[in-house]
Amino acid sequence: MKTIIDNIDEKNIDENILIKYANLIKNGETVILPTETVYGLGANALDENAVAKIYEAKGRPSDNPLIVHIDSIEKVNELAQNINYKAKKVMNKFWPGPITIILDKKEIVPNKTSGGLKTVALRMPNNNIFLKLISLSETPIAAPSANISGKPSPTKSKHVVEQMNNRVSGIICGNDCDFGIESTIVDFTEETPVILRPGSITKEELESEIGEVLIDKSLLKKEDNINAKAPGMKYKHYSPNAEVFIVDGNNIFENVNNLIRENKSKNLVTGVICIDENKDKYDCEVINLGSDLDEVGKNLFASLIDMDNKNIDIIYSEYFGNNGVGMAVMNRLLKSAGYKVIKFD
Ligand code: TXA
Ligand code: MG
Repeated sequence: MKTIIDNIDEKNIDENILIKYANLIKNGETVILPTETVYGLGANALDENAVAKIYEAKGRPSDNPLIVHIDSIEKVNELAQNINYKAKKVMNKFWPGPITIILDKKEIVPNKTSGGLKTVALRMPNNNIFLKLISLSETPIAAPSANISGKPSPTKSKHVVEQMNNRVSGIICGNDCDFGIESTIVDFTEETPVILRPGSITKEELESEIGEVLIDKSLLKKEDNINAKAPGMKYKHYSPNAEVFIVDGNNIFENVNNLIRENKSKNLVTGVICIDENKDKYDCEVINLGSDLDEVGKNLFASLIDMDNKNIDIIYSEYFGNNGVGMAVMNRLLKSAGYKVIKFD
């Protein structure tokens, strides 16, 4: 498939270019677009044939439902029902932004989009290119992350083009994503809302708006693969070609450098991803993720893809803690590591 590709500057949007992509969406084709979290692979959410093309382009199992993106809070009423006041409060506070809300779906949302569920995931993204594309397309846009299923989600246009050229009809190249980790997903169909996927909007922030919020039990243990309520959480995820390990415990630098030497003797090339402070401590290829958790989140997926591009065999990642955004960061990292943690005594 031939892919058309354009650069669009979010601060100075050329509407004539964007109209081309809106026409692709109207014609039931797929378009990759920037969001504030990760790049998305979009199509008309209300057109089953268009949605089928998303699954095909990603190689994604079709029982895994898609997030439907809208350009205003009012549109929620067209797609969902039984919208309780806590959901409304969260939309008003955090939209447009990196939070996805699960509600009972209306008939208009095809089963293909909701993966056969009676609920629908809705999000109003905080990216002017995407918001404008939705309004020019005159339809909500379903968009999962724009990675091939199982791979790290792209957060830079360069990585999108490397992974997805010729798999979709169009790619809109925008800026690097602000957050770099997918949206927080919250289920509002229960009395007490439940976080199904952690993201940059934290449990604490949600609770200060709406009181108690639960965390899906499957997120707290390794077996999340089995009982996860967000179907996508059960699949192999975020995995680069390299094997990833999380390292933690005492004398990290000395212990990791020993492992690096051992790997070298087996002709295996090692890379380390770490915080800024530690970037000079390791005797191998290092990617500095930054100096705080927000930066670590923003750079995480891109660092995994960059390590693959450097033909690294083994990646060691420092442990970043579970506070605030750390929960989302560690959720993604543990998955990409297949839950392999090396703890030094
Ligand atoms: O930040 C994001 O959320 C990005 C950007 C593109 O918006 N999108 C994204 O989509 O991460 P995706 O498809 O990669 O992840 C969506 C997750 C999946 O784990 C899916 O199972 C879950 O949302 N999901 C979708 N609809 C659901 C529903 N009705 N009930 C429970 N989980 C749902
Ligand atoms: Mg994804």
